[in-house]
Amino acid sequence: MLESLRLENVGPAPHMEMELGSRLNLITGDNGLGKSFLLDVAWWALTRRWPAEVNPSVTSGLMARPTKPGRAAIRFSYPSKVKKESYQSEFDRRAEAWVGRQGRPANPGLVLYAQVDGGFSVWDPARNYWKKAKSVDVQERQPAYVFSAREVWSGLKVGEIQLCNGLLADWALWQKEDGEAFRQLNTVLAAMSPGSEEPLAAGDLAKLSVDDARWIPTLRMPYGIDVPVLYASAAMKRIVSLAYLLVWSWQEHLRAAALLDEQPTSQVTFLIDELESHLHPRWQRTIVRSLLQVMQALAGKAAVQLVAATHSPLLLASVEPFFEPDKDAWFDLDLEHGDGGTEVLLRKRDFVRLGDVSNWLTSDAFDLRIPRSVEAEEAMGKALHLLARPAPHSVAEVREVDDALRGVLPDIDRFWVRWSAFAEEYLGAER
Ligand SMILES: Nc1ncnc2c1ncn2[C@@H]1O[C@H](COP(=O)(O)OP(=O)(O)OP(=O)(O)O)[C@@H](O)[C@H]1O
Ligand SMILES: [Mg+2]
Repeated sequence: MLESLRLENVGPAPHMEMELGSRLNLITGDNGLGKSFLLDVAWWALTRRWPAEVNPSVTSGLMARPTKPGRAAIRFSYPSKVKKESYQSEFDRRAEAWVGRQGRPANPGLVLYAQVDGGFSVWDPARNYWKKAKSVDVQERQPAYVFSAREVWSGLKVGEIQLCNGLLADWALWQKEDGEAFRQLNTVLAAMSPGSEEPLAAGDLAKLSVDDARWIPTLRMPYGIDVPVLYASAAMKRIVSLAYLLVWSWQEHLRAAALLDEQPTSQVTFLIDELESHLHPRWQRTIVRSLLQVMQALAGKAAVQLVAATHSPLLLASVEPFFEPDKDAWFDLDLEHGDGGTEVLLRKRDFVRLGDVSNWLTSDAFDLRIPRSVEAEEAMGKALHLLARPAPHSVAEVREVDDALRGVLPDIDRFWVRWSAFAEEYLGAER
């Protein structure tokens, strides 16, 4: 679980600072302002490995680089069993690496990271944490499990070691075993469904081709057909792979902890980029709550922290009923124009209930002036300008704006009430 993150001279802004909530953290901001970057750094702070360093075949999660010459630092803290652990790491240019305090860092708990390109990373305290050899800390275990999108489905292998069988093989195996893993997978799928009328459920295993030896898992669709997961829609694939990896990570963690005769972890952190990715609005409305519930149900007594980047106003509206300021936080990235030029600024914003999606679109989170088309915004901008300007107005200019409004506003738009009274003065009631 990450408590704080402070960056200096690294990434898109000169400084960035986050004091995270212990449960839900949402990050908003325009394209290219640093949401995915912050998730990469959060993953590194907890695990001390960059995803692309562990698995060069992934297309995201590169090592953070200093922005300008001079000192670059990443500071972070997380709670450990006894006290808060704070770390500082500076970029060593000669070594091209982030260096900090020597030795074994405190255990951050289970860390999961769903990248936007379908890649997924897992750091398991039972399997990836330092171990002792003759009372010296050595890290000769796997540093982390970093899957490319393809490896999530077909398995992860390092050298001769098969680290994970992948969704297709494991799902089929779990279904044939019909044991705890399959029960959990079905529970997670049902909980992460878009709604109770369309529950996600496993169908019968299928053979797809005479040459293909694999049994392929299927999803039972509401229209009564079992669709092989390879053919499932983009949204279904995303949710199915999240469900599989949650179950796989937790099952493997429990198994490893039992082998080591240790207690399962007491903390789980899930970093997830573009949480709403591919999901229909109805699904966007339920995904945060269902993900928190599913993780809590899987992890039992462990504390669960979610850190998610999003572009979805509906997702922000959807958390209004359960957002709690002492556990949850909302961070927003903006471009700030000042005397010294334009800079990216990361702010923790007060979460206020705005009610509907339009209000979120025009809030600090998404910064639209009005939640309409560009053409409607222009026409209404001109109309408001005319309304605010003292008379006299020419008939021609009022007609021009009136025509523009007719081209973009629906007949029932409330703006007509205000505009028509004004326009009739110039153009007559029959306009
Ligand atoms: N590893 C890195 N080291 C240093 N700077 C980086 C690194 N990765 C990204 N950046 C900087 O951060 C900026 C923002 O990139 P990022 O991918 O985080 O944007 P984003 O907010 O996720 O955008 P989008 O909404 O399009 O996904 C980049 O333009 C780049 O300047
Ligand atoms: Mg991004």
